[in-house]
Amino acid sequence: MNMDLVFAPPELETKDLRDKAVVVIDVLRATSTMIVAFENGCSAFIPVATVEEARKLADMGKDPDLLLGGERGALPVAGFYLGNSPRDYRPEKVRGKVVIMTTTNGTRALVAAKEAAEIFIGAFLNLSALTRLLARMDRDVLIACAGEKGFFCLEDTVCGGAIIDLLGKSGVTLTVSDSALAAKVLYEYWEGNIYGMLSASAWGRYLEGLGLGKDVRICAQIDSSQMVPVYRGGKIFLDR
Ligand code: MLT
Repeated sequence: MNMDLVFAPPELETKDLRDKAVVVIDVLRATSTMIVAFENGCSAFIPVATVEEARKLADMGKDPDLLLGGERGALPVAGFYLGNSPRDYRPEKVRGKVVIMTTTNGTRALVAAKEAAEIFIGAFLNLSALTRLLARMDRDVLIACAGEKGFFCLEDTVCGGAIIDLLGKSGVTLTVSDSALAAKVLYEYWEGNIYGMLSASAWGRYLEGLGLGKDVRICAQIDSSQMVPVYRGGKIFLDR
């Protein structure tokens, strides 16, 4: 299996995604939050890049089961029902609902990956389940880190490295790109201290500064979920 990794969405433009399985990772917090939401009974997400698109789509839908969610600068968007904190996505709020979601980096990365053959939602929360699924597939894998405003961020790269490490240990023969190898080496440095890595990262420190340290702890929970949401036909859902 060929294993590649991009540190941020702009690099996706240089890749041919059509035959690949792409894993989109935004550990802090979009993809972690989505996994928590599915655990709490959410039925789907529609990721969009901008706040305007999200509002337009919600207006067109006019459906009580359609909710608006997301953030800018980690804070909820004015008039949106949900922010981007995993603690917002409680069962009583999201069970059976579809969330139109826009976040600064996470949903942008998803939209940028939409030409891929398969797209999966990844985070530390579903690390083992995701890796098992990738190991069963007969496809090359590209890990798409959401990064920070078009550039590298520590937490997504380390999570990508964890997937690569686990896939290798599961017996899959990997041919890794330089970026994938670099991510794996970075993971080896932080292995055993994922919460420490998250709270040392720039975005983790920013979230903690806003009083959102509990979110950082939730996003550090390795394998708290067995769910691997897919992004297909414009929607993110559980493909059971
Ligand atoms: C993003 O998409 O940039 C994030 O998920 C930001 C956050 O809300 O922590």
